[in-house]
Amino acid sequence: MSLTLTLPDLPPALLTLVLQQPDPDHAVGVAALATRCAPALGLDPVTTYLAGWLHDLGKLAVPQDLLQACRPLTVAERLMVQAHPVEGESLVRKAWPEVPVEIVHAVRHHHERLDGRGYPEGLSSLPVLTMLIGAADVYDALTHDRCYRPAVGVAAAGEVLRDLALSREVVEVVLKCGSLGSSGSRSSCGGRAPLAGQCGGDPVAQ
Ligand SMILES: [Fe+2]
Repeated sequence: MSLTLTLPDLPPALLTLVLQQPDPDHAVGVAALATRCAPALGLDPVTTYLAGWLHDLGKLAVPQDLLQACRPLTVAERLMVQAHPVEGESLVRKAWPEVPVEIVHAVRHHHERLDGRGYPEGLSSLPVLTMLIGAADVYDALTHDRCYRPAVGVAAAGEVLRDLALSREVVEVVLKCGSLGSSGSRSSCGGRAPLAGQCGGDPVAQ
């Protein structure tokens, strides 16, 4: 399905931040996948695209060496990485005071899970858009190379997503849209070969 979006005039300060994101390909990948899913879930495609594009903006506030670390993070380091949704909310609100509330929610809560074991607040009730961004985030990360592992296939990604404490409907829509979408050989590893270990920037590992 091809979808042409007309994005609203976004504040220049927000666009400046978006263009500085540490992993812009991931941001666009999540936005594109989530937008393909939006009609099946009754969501507005433009709002969905923007939520995906902005979801990890808070990683601008995390030391880049932690995001690229191909080793287990210390507890303190992991907490620094896990601060990115709250940092993202702050950045988005400052740069775009009129930002729609559903986008803010998706940015702040895309790592929450329905079993209450996500972060930053351990919520157990989530809107569909926030769950969609969370599921698309994991799918995109899994299906592209990371510095500590190569991309996994659609079947393996499906196993991981079906284990997430998110709406089964949302997960199945993401898997369907993901299997129909493009999958590239993009890497977030700065040209380094995939290695075994853990990486600070991975939504699955966090
Ligand atoms: Fe994230």
